[in-house]
Amino acid sequence: MLELMYKLMEYRSDEVRHRLEKVGRAASMLHMDVLLLIYHFAKFSAGNILEIGPYIGGSTVAAAFGARESRARKKKIVSIEAGGQLKHFRLSSRDIIKDLRKNLARFGVAGDVTLINGRSFDEATIFEVRHRLSSGDVGLFIFDADDNVRRDLDCYGDLLNDGCWLVIDDYFGPAKAAPLRAQVDVLLSEGRLLPFGYYGWGTWVGQWHRK
Ligand SMILES: C[S@@+](CC[C@H](N)C(=O)[O-])C[C@H]1O[C@@H](n2cnc3c(N)ncnc32)[C@H](O)[C@@H]1O
Repeated sequence: MLELMYKLMEYRSDEVRHRLEKVGRAASMLHMDVLLLIYHFAKFSAGNILEIGPYIGGSTVAAAFGARESRARKKKIVSIEAGGQLKHFRLSSRDIIKDLRKNLARFGVAGDVTLINGRSFDEATIFEVRHRLSSGDVGLFIFDADDNVRRDLDCYGDLLNDGCWLVIDDYFGPAKAAPLRAQVDVLLSEGRLLPFGYYGWGTWVGQWHRK
């Protein structure tokens, strides 16, 4: 845990922070520290990346930068986005998928990401994800969708490797945080999750324990 805090402190004065600040301004609701951690886990974790809820792509670009700068073999990044539109005080979108594709292209990572347009729990989405990723294949799982992370971990948990890093947003905060926090706490008590800290505005960070 201390190592992770130390690493983050170093990143805050590294050139990657300037790159990710541009990404954050254009395309992310997440705190800069969380984008830096996503970058870090994508760079150093073993395995592929599964993201649920990229919105217009900030977190996805951070992961793609990390994956590209990783010494490991080329990593797959699979990102699931329901699409639609959203009003936000800083980052509204009238067509989420269109803006997401635009931002991936703008930051030069469109070719690195497999984008699945659908809800995480739709049969077609599950089929597509399982076609792209296999059991124990995923080393970073990013969840920033709705208030039901348990649903998606029940569905995709077998794809995560032992020690897979999880970045789960909205553990703390308004409305959708309460049910999500309760789910994370149950998963902790069941021994499926290992906590590594709370970052940014209310993002939970930890690791997966395979059964
Ligand atoms: C808070 S935004 C994500 C913000 C983004 N990660 C960032 O860096 O700013 C949540 C996104 O999740 C999507 N979403 C919500 N539920 C979903 C689901 N079950 N499957 C796929 N996408 C979902 C919404 O359409 C929205 O774009």
